[in-house]
Amino acid sequence: MKPVRKAIFPVGGLGTRFLPATKALPKEMLPIVDKPLIEYAVDEARDAGIEEFIFVTGRGKSAIEDHFDNNYELEQTLAERGKQEELDQVNQAKLKPGQVAYIRQMSPLGLGHAVWCARNLINDEPFAVLLADDLIKADKPTLTEMIEVYETRGGNVVSLMEVPAHHTSRYGIVEPGDSAGRIVEIRGMVEKPAPADAPSNLAIVGRYVLQPSVMHHLSAAETGAGNEIQLTDSMMKMVGEVPFNGLRLGGTRYDCGDKAGFLAAGIAFALMRDDMATEIRERVSHLLTDTA
Ligand code: G1P
Repeated sequence: MKPVRKAIFPVGGLGTRFLPATKALPKEMLPIVDKPLIEYAVDEARDAGIEEFIFVTGRGKSAIEDHFDNNYELEQTLAERGKQEELDQVNQAKLKPGQVAYIRQMSPLGLGHAVWCARNLINDEPFAVLLADDLIKADKPTLTEMIEVYETRGGNVVSLMEVPAHHTSRYGIVEPGDSAGRIVEIRGMVEKPAPADAPSNLAIVGRYVLQPSVMHHLSAAETGAGNEIQLTDSMMKMVGEVPFNGLRLGGTRYDCGDKAGFLAAGIAFALMRDDMATEIRERVSHLLTDTA
């Protein structure tokens, strides 16, 4: 079984839900406390042992490239001013030479299309996909857990969470088979079904471990829900071809593609920080009493 060494980060989306903030700023650069969303996803991949980071970008996304690169002027200034902690943070975010690749999606034709754009870099290896909008607060990083499932069961692994029945049309929804603890065998899936058509209320979260054969299915470029080339539709074709399992989330997922989810994530992550928790708790409780 080949190890999972590569990860794709689809970051070509327009971020229309965050306009005007995202007119000139990639939505993946919006900060949760003081770290951009994309850095949380990259850290999760790094923790899981990923060695090659493939960003599928679009126009106006160069801030993401700059974020993971050297910035000599800033680093020199921080060093001269003795700001070691800040310098360490800046250095820690960087990706090593040759570890990172940027591919342009050119047209936003869907998540499946974004993943397919990276096919020549993936070649014949299994790979992870991380959607930075889905920020996960968990004791053990989600991708690390998913790769452990892959190492015992092979095939494809997706992350799953239960959603209210009336939210099925926002997600890829799976048809579950047998379960063993948090692992769920997957028998089918459908992208954004109406509640009446949903096979369950188990939704796919934006973390995937996939076999490279998904690229073959994606190359058919068939459109699905929302007239987009959906990753879910090509994964569906792999049910029966390869082992296919879901892992129920071991933490909390924040939908940072949504304004309320993004703000909730900011507060939740600030409350986890020793340097901020007390002050944030006080401020939030004041706000709640003031506006009650
Ligand atoms: C994408 C996937 C969907 C998945 C979701 C998780 O949808 O297509 O299957 O459930 O991410 O966030 P999107 O949010 O891009 O519409």
